[in-house]
Amino acid sequence: MPLVTTRKMFADAYAGGYAIGAFNVNNMEIIQGIVQAGQKLNAPLILQVSKGARAYANHTYLVKLVEAAEATTGLPIALHLDHGPDFETCKSCIDGGFTSVMIDGSHHPYETNVELTKKVVDYAHSKGVTVEGELGQLAGVEDDVNVSEHSYTQPDQVEDFVGRTGVDSLAIAIGTSHGAFKFKPGQKPQLRFDILAEVSRRLPEFPIVLHGASSVVPEFVAEINQYGGAMDDAIGIPEEMLREAAKSAVCKINIDSDLRLAMTAAIRKYMALNPSHFDPRQYLAPARDAIQKMVEHKIETVLGCAGKA
Ligand code: G3H
Ligand code: 13P
Ligand code: ZN
Repeated sequence: MPLVTTRKMFADAYAGGYAIGAFNVNNMEIIQGIVQAGQKLNAPLILQVSKGARAYANHTYLVKLVEAAEATTGLPIALHLDHGPDFETCKSCIDGGFTSVMIDGSHHPYETNVELTKKVVDYAHSKGVTVEGELGQLAGVEDDVNVSEHSYTQPDQVEDFVGRTGVDSLAIAIGTSHGAFKFKPGQKPQLRFDILAEVSRRLPEFPIVLHGASSVVPEFVAEINQYGGAMDDAIGIPEEMLREAAKSAVCKINIDSDLRLAMTAAIRKYMALNPSHFDPRQYLAPARDAIQKMVEHKIETVLGCAGKA
């Protein structure tokens, strides 16, 4: 099958009480590790590309790699733009083979966010592409935007936003954040499930998205530290909280940092144990295997989407 939009994936996920993993991709090994896990567990996948990924790897390379992933597995795969910063970037992705885009107007004033998001939705829908919008801001860094404090989604805005823009899904801020340092040392991880519940009450059967949802898997952090890294204070979202979210209206869970940690841990370990090796395939193969293992773990314990392809 060709690359798919998120429409059926989200309808099935909402009805089935599970979520689809949206994994950030930047190169071939990351894509292969993710789709090997999807294939083994027969899971639908969203492969997402940030502005930074497009700048690093080139739009066309990433599209062709994701098309190859679909062609070799036959899995339902959506190719999604993560944190689209403006209309032009979204248009370029829509015209260039993406099946889904996010327009992230969350840092703009509300009315500007509505106007920008609607412009992207009108264009995307005319081309059969689905759109994710965002209300509220996560703490942390994403591409060029650095936010120090959460600005939680205001539930009383969501019906107006979705109604006026026509978005297909909505990312909300309930206390997750981007990166590997999501809470201060000693701080108890907490999410605002009350906001999620109120948003879903106001938007019946509407797919909600969680960004910043890596758990910062301790096994990989320990390995990074064991082989010369310095990530003692890394802390993520507890997996049981994400599993709870996946059973509710949350249909898409974004994971990037956990992929980075898995890959970096494997490469650090390989390099430390094999100091004379210099063939990139020797350290990228275990890195790819580590990504596969991590994604399998997410599908089985957090997302609940095994067997749903
Ligand atoms: O939300 C941001 C994602 O983790 C992508 O990160 O902009 O460094 O590619 P990036
Ligand atoms: P993490 O940094 O928690 O993996 O979040 C990734 C993300 O939200 C991409 O949009
Ligand atoms: Zn994000």
